[in-house]
Amino acid sequence: MLKTFTTKKSLQQYLQQIKALNQTVGFVATLGALHHGHLSLIELAQQQNDVIVCSIFVNPSQFNDPKDLEKYPRTIEADIKLLEQVKCDILFYPEVNEMYDDNEHWHLNIGETEHLLEGEFRPGHYQGVTQIVNKLFNIVTPDTAYFGQKDYQQFLIISKMVTMLNMPVKLVMCPIKRETDGLAMSSRNIHLTPDDRQHALILSKTLNWLKTNFNSHNIPTLKKEAELLINAEPGVELDYFAIADGDTLHPADEATKSIVALVAAQVGKTRLIDNVVLSS
Ligand code: PAF
Repeated sequence: MLKTFTTKKSLQQYLQQIKALNQTVGFVATLGALHHGHLSLIELAQQQNDVIVCSIFVNPSQFNDPKDLEKYPRTIEADIKLLEQVKCDILFYPEVNEMYDDNEHWHLNIGETEHLLEGEFRPGHYQGVTQIVNKLFNIVTPDTAYFGQKDYQQFLIISKMVTMLNMPVKLVMCPIKRETDGLAMSSRNIHLTPDDRQHALILSKTLNWLKTNFNSHNIPTLKKEAELLINAEPGVELDYFAIADGDTLHPADEATKSIVALVAAQVGKTRLIDNVVLSS
């Protein structure tokens, strides 16, 4: 039976009992509008923990565009059904005023990683993410927390926060879940029109092309070709295509060991991100 808590206090009281029994807690934080990508995080968490907490909270502080916050999909009834289907134990579903006081202006400063790539196009976004994930980790105190690779930069930033603050939580990055045609699963895909949906495939196709050709061209050529491919697709406006060091997100060169390609583009009215690890 899924147990739902809407207050920090009630969730913490319940978790205290779980911990007194020496049971391990796995945590999956989400913005809701759950899809198979989220469910795969829950399934992995279930294999590695006794009790699973999933949070659903559309966190206002990570939306730098109020219109984006307003139109973010909210599908709580369907979400609850899915959580019941996969036998998730606990849902934490707080209101905004349960998580924030009226006048909260603090934020963490994780350093330059939060200002690169997504940080450049969505200023303040990752400060909102670290603010809420910090709060959620303090409330849930999970043994292990699971995040998707789709927001690769988010995982890096949360890892840095955990290291900087010595937070006693282990982080696990879970592989990107894709539709059968390659599109990375995202709650935002709901907004794609049938035409957008076709055009959006250029992102995963280009990343695939890059993976196949990674050893036969140099990095500047690969980046240029990838940008040409995406720019040639109607209805798709590229924000960035980066071939980056997987730890620092600085541009990769021939000496870089861990390399990841990251892309963000506007497809019709929807902004999508995707990435592929090229070497690790
Ligand atoms: O990746 C997300 O869904 C969100 O950024 C997160 C981690 C739930 C924080 O609000």
